[in-house]
Amino acid sequence: MNTKVTENKIGILGAGNIGRALIIKLLEKGYPEENIKLTYRGSIFTFEKIYDNDLVDMISDNSRIVEESDIIILTVPPQSFKQIGDFGLDDDKLVISFMAGIPIDDIKKQTGSDNVVRVMPTGPDTILNSSAIAGVYPPEDTVCELLDLLEVEYHVLDSEEDVKYMTLIGCLPAVYCNYDYGSDENKEAVDRLSESFPLFKELSYKASLLVPTENKDEFVKNVSTPGGVTQKILFSLESGKSIYDSLIVALDYIDKLKDIIFV
Ligand SMILES: NC(=O)c1ccc[n+]([C@@H]2O[C@H](COP(=O)([O-])OP(=O)(O)OC[C@H]3O[C@@H](n4cnc5c(N)ncnc54)[C@H](OP(=O)(O)O)[C@@H]3O)[C@@H](O)[C@H]2O)c1
Repeated sequence: MNTKVTENKIGILGAGNIGRALIIKLLEKGYPEENIKLTYRGSIFTFEKIYDNDLVDMISDNSRIVEESDIIILTVPPQSFKQIGDFGLDDDKLVISFMAGIPIDDIKKQTGSDNVVRVMPTGPDTILNSSAIAGVYPPEDTVCELLDLLEVEYHVLDSEEDVKYMTLIGCLPAVYCNYDYGSDENKEAVDRLSESFPLFKELSYKASLLVPTENKDEFVKNVSTPGGVTQKILFSLESGKSIYDSLIVALDYIDKLKDIIFV
């Protein structure tokens, strides 16, 4: 690992909404283009977006990224992580996972690295416009430097359990696009969740400020990874459940994701 963060070769596995937002922001902040590589699964729609953003020269493959990168960023859907296979990494190669629901121990086991950090941000649009909030666990200097460079407001979490609550925070800007943050029902839900995660009150308020004034549907779409946690909350609200119950449904889903994936 190079001491100057921008000298490290970064490999982004999964150039979807979050992966591309990170790359575009890194480039905007002066990260050298030649030090970034990306992969995707082959979707023509994703290729179009990679092409439109002038990122085609960064396309690589998973095994080359694993071999050549100093920092590996995991932005594939949790459901795709197992398919990527074992990485056989050195103990200390830095792996930063943005995936919901996959615990550090499982990422360590599959990658071989002992240096795994989880980052849970609000959606891609907030990364692009420098308003993102994220939780980080455990604290790690290079990850914090990268998040500073990306202009992400990050909160170092006390435990991996808190990453689950941070995953809910990441979904809330999309939830509050169609659900009233100021409602009594939401206030009660926030108070109850703050009992388990004291930052919930402050961060859910900040999440409410991230609701865009226009193009809300596009904003929600970019946050709603198919089979992801935001979708789970939105479907639950649509089915008539309360906001509190919907957030609890999502927490249960996050807990179970690992079991669904590593069967
Ligand atoms: N969206 C959010 O707001 C948000 C917030 C916090 C955390 N996250 C986490 O961030 C991750 C990415 O979310 P997203 O919304 O960016 O999802 P996404 O738009 O669906 O992007 C996922 C990307 O992974 C690629 N991929 C899938 N399998 C792959 C494989 N085997 N090898 C290489 N690439 C592969 C896909 O390729 P194709 O395009 O070719 O299918 C796609 O480009 C998820 O784990 C999610 O839990 C998302």
